[in-house]
Amino acid sequence: MMAIFEYAPAPESRDVVDIRPSYGLFVNGEFVDGSGTPFKTVNPATEETLAEVATASSDDVDRAVQAARKAFGVWSALPGAERAKYLFRIARIIQERARELAVLESLDNGKPIRESRDVDVPLVAAHFFYYAGWADKLAYAGFGEPRPLGVAGQVIPWNFPLLMLAWKIAPALACGNTVVLKPAETTPLTALVFADICRQAELPPGVVNIVTGAGETGAAVVGHPDVDKVAFTGSTEVGRIIARAVAGTDKKLTLELGGKAANIVFEDAAVDQAVEGIVNGIFFNQGHVCCAGSRLLVQESVQEEVLESLRRRLSTLRLGDPLDKNTDIGAINSAEQLAKIRSLSDLGESEGAQRWSPACELPDKGFWFPPTVFTGVAQSHSIARAEIFGPVLSVLTFRTPAEAVEKANNTPYGLSAGIWTEKGSRILWMADRLRAGVVWANTFNKFDPASPFGGYKESGYGREGGLHGLEAYLDV
Ligand code: NAI
Ligand code: MG
Repeated sequence: MMAIFEYAPAPESRDVVDIRPSYGLFVNGEFVDGSGTPFKTVNPATEETLAEVATASSDDVDRAVQAARKAFGVWSALPGAERAKYLFRIARIIQERARELAVLESLDNGKPIRESRDVDVPLVAAHFFYYAGWADKLAYAGFGEPRPLGVAGQVIPWNFPLLMLAWKIAPALACGNTVVLKPAETTPLTALVFADICRQAELPPGVVNIVTGAGETGAAVVGHPDVDKVAFTGSTEVGRIIARAVAGTDKKLTLELGGKAANIVFEDAAVDQAVEGIVNGIFFNQGHVCCAGSRLLVQESVQEEVLESLRRRLSTLRLGDPLDKNTDIGAINSAEQLAKIRSLSDLGESEGAQRWSPACELPDKGFWFPPTVFTGVAQSHSIARAEIFGPVLSVLTFRTPAEAVEKANNTPYGLSAGIWTEKGSRILWMADRLRAGVVWANTFNKFDPASPFGGYKESGYGREGGLHGLEAYLDV
């Protein structure tokens, strides 16, 4: 990429992590073998195999659910203040082992160490601290006499492996439930270190069980008759399958699915600040973010100015080794995801949008995609409608606030949106009209354990985080 400064390499040391050649399942407080065929997890930046990981068969899932059921009796009977002690302990151990977790997350996922170190892992610890604080105050949460649901079956994706684990496990445990969690097949390693953290915290056996494997293992968790609550984050397609599997049972369900968020820039916005927000909105975590600002809606009168400034800014982004502390853009998580991003981007071009990327050298090995901006995008184009889940921005324009609202809401999704303007009244006017679970004003991709997160329409239902996040794990 165009070098404004020369940067010396600044790699974070891998020595803080001790990756074992193979990993088992975590069931009833022990690491055990899985009966399915083990799979390999790779470093997407190099394609090097990191470890072999067990596959849980439906029998293995059954053992995990039984362990969770047995532990539910013990765990749910503990006073909230006792459960809180364990959660605080887990939060503190996460902080103590933060560097190890950040390096391992970057190795297994491909995200820059700057993000895993400064965003993912601190948020993971914050989430456990936050819900630890609720464990003995549930009676004041407004959901009546607090009663846990039982065993929660949780299936999570690969884009924020440890953070999604925290979003699922922390509120479940705080409310007195026990869990069986299945991490994604391309990023299982930090969940397995988390299992070790549970042991270190002397969490009673069976309260947390981690079963690794692919979609079939996930389906076994979701479909198990003794699971009381299902929580899923991932694709809308699999979300639909799960909704069908759960329909007609008395399982409670929350789904957090895809998005195609509008990041809306008005002519009175501070341009440099908005450009930083556009970059953070779509290039954070290589765009593997369900709430990514993948559609830029820019007011026509400032289009040229904003785009010129954006191109200039993108030319300074550094793509490469995720473990280098100066890296802004890391690797795409898998060959499959790279193929999807490529095919949707090619479609964007063939449908008539103009494609631009900064000069950018991609490493020879691994899965990489340059930051990409499409202009001349119409609402009917595939790249304005489908979730690309990669570093690809589609730019559309508008003239009036009403047109901005209409275009922003013209999507099957409704997870998030961003507004950039100097005017407070316009922020409120827009926020009232946008059909999105989260609306950011003059910022984007800001997360806090105290604020609820979740979608409308095909982005799913239920809320995670904050007081609202407790509702999903209580019998209300
Ligand atoms: P996916 O939805 O297939 O995978 C998410 C999780 O669900 C994984 O743990 C997977 O093993 C599990 N799973 C797959 N099939 C299942 C089934 N039938 N029953 C239960 N669990 C099952 O997502 P994938 O294939 O990794 O990505 C495909 C697309 O989905 C991406 O390109 C992106 O557009 C979207 N996606 C959205 C995410 C979000 O946070 N909203 C996260 C991951 C992907
Ligand atoms: Mg991996």
